[in-house]
Amino acid sequence: MINKVRLFSHLQELGEIGKLESGGITRLVFTKEDKAAKQLVSSYMREAGLEVRMDAVGNVIGRKEGRNPDAPVVLTGSHIDSVYNGGIFDGGLGVIGGIEVLQTMNEQGIVTEHPIEVIAFNDEEGTRFSFSMLGSRGIAGILKPENLEHVDKDGISFAEAMRDFGLDPELISQATRSKDSIKAHVELHPEQGKCLENKNLSVGVVTGINSSLWLKVTITGEAGHAGATPMNIRHDALAAAAEIIQVVEQETLKTGTAVGTVGKLEVHPGGINIIPGSVEFTIDLRDICKTVGDGLEHSILSKVRSICEKRHVKFDFEVLQRVPPVPCSDLVQATIKESCNKLGLEVYSLPSGAGHDSMHIANLCPIGMIFVRSKDGISHNPAEWSTPEDCEDGANVLYHTLLNLAGAS
Ligand code: HGY
Ligand code: MN
Ligand code: MN
Repeated sequence: MINKVRLFSHLQELGEIGKLESGGITRLVFTKEDKAAKQLVSSYMREAGLEVRMDAVGNVIGRKEGRNPDAPVVLTGSHIDSVYNGGIFDGGLGVIGGIEVLQTMNEQGIVTEHPIEVIAFNDEEGTRFSFSMLGSRGIAGILKPENLEHVDKDGISFAEAMRDFGLDPELISQATRSKDSIKAHVELHPEQGKCLENKNLSVGVVTGINSSLWLKVTITGEAGHAGATPMNIRHDALAAAAEIIQVVEQETLKTGTAVGTVGKLEVHPGGINIIPGSVEFTIDLRDICKTVGDGLEHSILSKVRSICEKRHVKFDFEVLQRVPPVPCSDLVQATIKESCNKLGLEVYSLPSGAGHDSMHIANLCPIGMIFVRSKDGISHNPAEWSTPEDCEDGANVLYHTLLNLAGAS
């Protein structure tokens, strides 16, 4: 079984990088915090006896050789970048847990038929450039040069930040893997919801992963004097945006299953006594069913058009990213369930509301995810917490699942 104390102390040590007064962490891609986290995780991988490398899109990869080095690799891993003021388990658990599993196998002298790799996927959250999962898209071969044109709040592009970090944006295709080079991928991750807590269970088997649609909306009205402009002749961009944000919530609620969020909003010019001339905001829509997600997008956009016509303001939108929902493989789910049974853990299946790198790796191979209970279902928040015991259960389920998939002697 894995070493719970080492697992949890590594999680907490990693959690110190990018730590804020609030107790949360902000660790954005290609920043000094990201570099420090990659270096620490690389040192853990070396201590675990793994061969360590960084690929062309910044994924940090630790490899445990198998009896047959040419056999397709079994992957595990998650991310070490974070959202603003996030928690230390989101992503970190899957990377540290994967390293702990491989270190335990090496300490036990276990040799598997297939090689196993644990990956710290680069920039899963997409917080800095509003475009997520750079690393797993790179491996899946779906990262396009134009994706690197996304800029951060200081106007620095992905490509520039990559160069500063020592990577060449012209070489991203070198990270691409072929379908026959990977047997399966399993990601350990906190649930970030309340299902496992409500069922009083430490782990869960993920059935599928929600879609992820990110829109950037720009409403253009007319700046004006807050005191001298009568209400009936205004073209107030923020009042229009406020009505639209209500529509996002109402239309999403109507579906009964989808989730819709407006997480970022900027008002221009942003003076107390100026009627807002323009507003930029984001819309994040998700559902486990593509038809529901597409229908929701359509109903929201048609209502936005009529609001803007009524208010005589202009509306533009840009699709920042569109990722369809992804089912988890029956084979990997069955293997995870077998591991739960072996450990005497109740088997409980549930979908993932959050997006994960596994969605893109699914383009190459069968994928599965193991969830660990989140206290109060909280995540993307400093209060994010999973107990050492629940993390241990999750990592032990991962241990048996990887042994099974990689063919232990
Ligand atoms: O946005 C998400 O679902 C994940 O945290 N990247
Ligand atoms: Mn997250
Ligand atoms: Mn995550």
